[in-house]
Amino acid sequence: MTTPPNVPIEPHAVDPHVFDDPAAAAASGQILDSAEEVHVGLTLDAVRPPSHEEILRVENLTVEFPTEDGVVHAVRGVSYGLREREVLGIVGESGSGKSVSSLAVMGLLPKSARIKGRILFRGDDMLKMSPRKQRGLRGRKIAMIFQDPMTALNPVHTIGDQLAEAVLAHELMPRKTALARAREMLDLVGIPQAEARLRSYPHEFSGGMRQRAMIAMAVINNPDIIIADEPTTALDVTVQAQILEKLLEVKDAVNAAIVLITHDLGVIAGMAHRVLVMYAGRPVELGDTDPVFEEPRMPYTAGLLGSIPSLEGGGSRLRPIKGTPPSLINLPTGCPFSPRCPLATDICRTEEPQLAETDSGGHFAACHHWDKLAAAEDPTVFFRTESETVA
Ligand SMILES: Nc1ncnc2c1ncn2[C@@H]1O[C@H](COP(=O)(O)OP(=O)(O)OP(=O)(O)O)[C@@H](O)[C@H]1O
Ligand code: SF4
Ligand SMILES: [Mg+2]
Repeated sequence: MTTPPNVPIEPHAVDPHVFDDPAAAAASGQILDSAEEVHVGLTLDAVRPPSHEEILRVENLTVEFPTEDGVVHAVRGVSYGLREREVLGIVGESGSGKSVSSLAVMGLLPKSARIKGRILFRGDDMLKMSPRKQRGLRGRKIAMIFQDPMTALNPVHTIGDQLAEAVLAHELMPRKTALARAREMLDLVGIPQAEARLRSYPHEFSGGMRQRAMIAMAVINNPDIIIADEPTTALDVTVQAQILEKLLEVKDAVNAAIVLITHDLGVIAGMAHRVLVMYAGRPVELGDTDPVFEEPRMPYTAGLLGSIPSLEGGGSRLRPIKGTPPSLINLPTGCPFSPRCPLATDICRTEEPQLAETDSGGHFAACHHWDKLAAAEDPTVFFRTESETVA
């Protein structure tokens, strides 16, 4: 393999917010004194609100993978709508079907996948469209940001070439114009010296800068929807906050909606208008972010909330939910969370609950006993250890 040449970047005055990677900052002689120096100012309140128009509707999506060990029921009836400019958070533990359900929207599942249901983009079912029409939407109107930019960026091509290619794949224009657009996008995502950086290779960027380049690639065709799958998981907390803020800023600039996938409920707070919680391939709670955070109606969500360390400190303890998610080949009968649920009763072990509206409008949960959470002052109490409850 040929080694890409190093592109020298001219020394420049450093803006403290330019280096999103403390290691890169230190290497440049610019040290970030403390985490407090990083201001994550932008919140959902500061960006344009969602419209009432729905651009994406996923209806009863199921995805199965036939394997030697049996059929993997990866996604089992996922439905949600996404409005223009809305941020929908999809959260759940590893293996809950977050990525598979989104890869289905992007048409990126392997051929072996059996997909059922409907994926409507502005009312048009993408699963029934001609391949040509699908290609016109995916990557253009619907773009994706992956967890690890190194898997999505080609190591042997410059960032500029890759950004320009992303434009030229969908639009006929002179290469020079595509490169000018690429430069504009690097500026937009906060990469300094964009002109010079167009000639850089991915390995010359820090992790945070690569993720910024991925965001640039996602928005270069002015998409209506950005699907961001764990966009900040590989980054440290400070850089995470900067990238999430940038994502909101860029979303506002191009007027896009976002599906934000994460296993970390903490990432959703302040970032998503609504949240969809997934467990064992199904949606188990759906609603506006604040009510779901403040008054969860599904024990699994309450358990996830109980496992977020409190930002106020004061002796808060991480309380992971005991047990592991079920096998998606041999699912237990009844509620798939029942083996781990402190509220489980006989009905839970025989009947799988459907997602249904709870005591507040627009707040749905799949639980036979959501009313018990509604009656509790602190729903996370069910997941505390005895000593914590007594204390
Ligand atoms: N190509 C495949 N063949 C067989 N099983 C698959 C395939 N792709 C995914 N799966 C299975 O589908 C299930 C859901 O996977 P998915 O990647 O959607 O999980 P996830 O919620 O995104 O988890 P993570 O947080 O780890 O990314 C998992 O059990 C996974 O092993
Ligand atoms: S249905 Fe039963 S087992 Fe499932 S989450 Fe609700 S209380 Fe727990
Ligand atoms: Mg995933």
